[in-house]
Amino acid sequence: MTSKHDIADQALTLADRVQADRVHTSLYNDPAIFETEMDKIFASTWVWVAHASEVPDAGSYKNTYIGRQPVIVVRDRKQKVHVLLNRCRHRAATVCEGKKGKTNSFVCPYHGWSYSLDGALRGVPHPESYADQLEKGELGLVSLRVEEYAGMLFATFKDDIEPLVDYLGPAKKWMDLFMKQGGGFPIKVAGEHRFRFPGNWKIQLENTTDAYHFPLVHKSFLSSVDQQTVEMLDFVGGPGYVEELGNGHSVMVMIPQLVDLEANLDAPIPERFAELAQALRDEGHTDLEVRRIVRAVGGSGFNLNIFPNIACSMAFFRVLQPISVTETEIHHAVITMDGGPAVANQARLRMHEHFQGPMGFGTPDDSEAWERVQKGASAGKDLWIMLNRGLAGEKPTADGHVSDVSAETGMRAAYQQWKKLMTA
Ligand code: FES
Ligand SMILES: [Fe+2]
Repeated sequence: MTSKHDIADQALTLADRVQADRVHTSLYNDPAIFETEMDKIFASTWVWVAHASEVPDAGSYKNTYIGRQPVIVVRDRKQKVHVLLNRCRHRAATVCEGKKGKTNSFVCPYHGWSYSLDGALRGVPHPESYADQLEKGELGLVSLRVEEYAGMLFATFKDDIEPLVDYLGPAKKWMDLFMKQGGGFPIKVAGEHRFRFPGNWKIQLENTTDAYHFPLVHKSFLSSVDQQTVEMLDFVGGPGYVEELGNGHSVMVMIPQLVDLEANLDAPIPERFAELAQALRDEGHTDLEVRRIVRAVGGSGFNLNIFPNIACSMAFFRVLQPISVTETEIHHAVITMDGGPAVANQARLRMHEHFQGPMGFGTPDDSEAWERVQKGASAGKDLWIMLNRGLAGEKPTADGHVSDVSAETGMRAAYQQWKKLMTA
């Protein structure tokens, strides 16, 4: 018997390839679809570029990408953040290299055109040869629209899409909750770990709200932590939930009692933080400060997925950067307390390394699974990726749907946004 899902690959439109309960395998491996995504998604919606703490001072910059286009995030002398295409307006050389740093201006290494921090073309060597034919005012670095919420900087190529706050919608509440990891201090990105995996970017996007894989893929992580932590992370089948937040965003609440890090601060301090709590007491922190900081160190009990490229995941930011249809770069940014106790920040760094680090017990296992998805997806090109887990129990909300914690609701939400943008 043939069903509508057995239609030959080429007969499917882009819209056909995303259904309510499944997506077509070609979304992982068709180079033409990938090219369209760079245009219709990454060049057409809000894309996360930095946390404000990564460009703290006048002249601080960070190099990154929107889709595959290199951009510089830079703070000017008036503290305004600009996102500039990293492309000299003479003959296209990048004007800034290095991941992060501080500068007074951007000077192109090829022929020396120089640009100020807001991208304006300041000067060119030997201008006399241009006579009066160089329109300096027209030849600044291309500057994108930038908006910020809760210290998170997003940019877009589009002047006509909604303001960032409208795009984020109900996700804003969760961003505010996530930032409580400062424990009373502003949060600060202290560094990041970067790696690539041979797979499509959406395989990673799906993973942020995938509770289903946790007990299996993260067995070695679970074998490396104390019994209290094992019990805390036994959330599949627990009271958590996954909720659609509109525009492809979603949140997966694994540990409901750790949604608001400042609630119930008189709950007992977990055994694994006893030493840290004592060290903070020895430094003279009040009991309330100790509880607040220790709670913040442990991270939030949820993962927030902001379409298309940033996740606020328990205690860190996960940024995804598409490289090609079958390759993705991931940045795992560690979050610390800016001005907070060194002993607490050290504890956060150790926690980050333990799961996310290159020798960690978590991420290497995740990336093995993602790689195997991509490899398996090269078999059976007419088959579908099933996303119907939890569909039966899903309940409607004002912004989408909510379901049990291991439902594939977050993935379905992301693919509906994918479809909306790709077919616009
Ligand atoms: S390419 Fe930049 S100055 Fe020539
Ligand atoms: Fe994982």
